[in-house]
Amino acid sequence: MKALILQAPKEAISCQETPQPIPTQGQVLVKIKAAAINHRDVYITQGLYPGVVTPIILGSDGTGEIVGLGEGVDSSWLKESVVLNPSIGWETATNVQPKTYEILGMPKNGCFAEYIAVDLKQVHKTPKHLSSEQAAALPLAGLTAYRALFSRAQLQKNERVLISGVGGGVALLACQLAIAAGADVYVTSGSEEKINQAIALGAKGGVNYKEENWHKALLKKANGGFDVIVDSAGGDGFKYFLDLANMGGRIVFYGGTRGSFKVNPQKVFWKQLSLLGSTMGNTKEFGQMLDFVDETQLIPVVDSTWTLEEGAAAFDHMDQGKQFGKIVFKIN
Ligand SMILES: NC(=O)c1ccc[n+]([C@@H]2O[C@H](COP(=O)([O-])OP(=O)(O)OC[C@H]3O[C@@H](n4cnc5c(N)ncnc54)[C@H](OP(=O)(O)O)[C@@H]3O)[C@@H](O)[C@H]2O)c1
Repeated sequence: MKALILQAPKEAISCQETPQPIPTQGQVLVKIKAAAINHRDVYITQGLYPGVVTPIILGSDGTGEIVGLGEGVDSSWLKESVVLNPSIGWETATNVQPKTYEILGMPKNGCFAEYIAVDLKQVHKTPKHLSSEQAAALPLAGLTAYRALFSRAQLQKNERVLISGVGGGVALLACQLAIAAGADVYVTSGSEEKINQAIALGAKGGVNYKEENWHKALLKKANGGFDVIVDSAGGDGFKYFLDLANMGGRIVFYGGTRGSFKVNPQKVFWKQLSLLGSTMGNTKEFGQMLDFVDETQLIPVVDSTWTLEEGAAAFDHMDQGKQFGKIVFKIN
């Protein structure tokens, strides 16, 4: 089969022939139809991710059809359209992931291939209103955004939400999920075009975080502060979230692209703020996220589609940060 293989960190990924996997007991063989890139995949190729194991087929997000069954798997699963849960080993709804927790696509082979063999417990039925490409845009980003908003920040209908860096894959899904939940959503971005694209999806407004005093402009534009703030940038800009948060606000973050930050403790305790770290999600949350997408008929945004042969160029596209929505490989 064809697969995008990383031979060693800091080398370019390339499309190569490799043996098709064989499902073992309790596994299914999925013919991948679409797979999406996350920043994690790019960090791994750049050697910026801990514990990189090579050679490896990357890719945490995939959708496809079950075309083979390992021993012990019920035959009713054959030909089912499925979406893969990238969270491996966090089946019980505990507050944190267990030490044995893994993410699909390193150290285990992932979805940038024509076929993948995975445990049956990793597959869920694809929401019927989504194309393969749209469904592939959902798993890692949707799960991370869902847990951050609903499990960690306990978002309620009609609350005011700020999503920073809305052009990010997780951020955009957080924006869509929060709008679908009935929140008033504002965004920041380094691009006016992306702010306008978010407004077209239902956001109320936004400001460019590259502009000086963007936080003051946002308070004015939004006519007040926010109950929930979602961030993955961290860095110098993070301190402004303490001013932007309403009393009792929850600031939830799952990334630190711009590095570490300092916070003023007085602002945190006086305003009774909660600073909440969040990572991926458990199996229950993955199912809840899919149900929510089904109920609200939410359609994840696909920025562009690529072939496996165009793998290195697709990775460059993400590295340049010009995308709005997920970068998806169309396979088979
Ligand atoms: N903990 C977890 O479970 C988890 C899960 C997924 C991702 N992550 C992490 O979260 C981060 C984002 O991942 P992703 O896949 O969503 O990446 P991505 O799609 O590449 O998004 C990165 C986005 O960050 C935004 N950004 C850059 N500088 C910013 C700044 N100074 N202030 C605000 N936003 C800024 C940009 O938004 P604009 O384009 O709008 O300017 C950019 O699109 C990465 O560090 C990733 O490793 C963690």
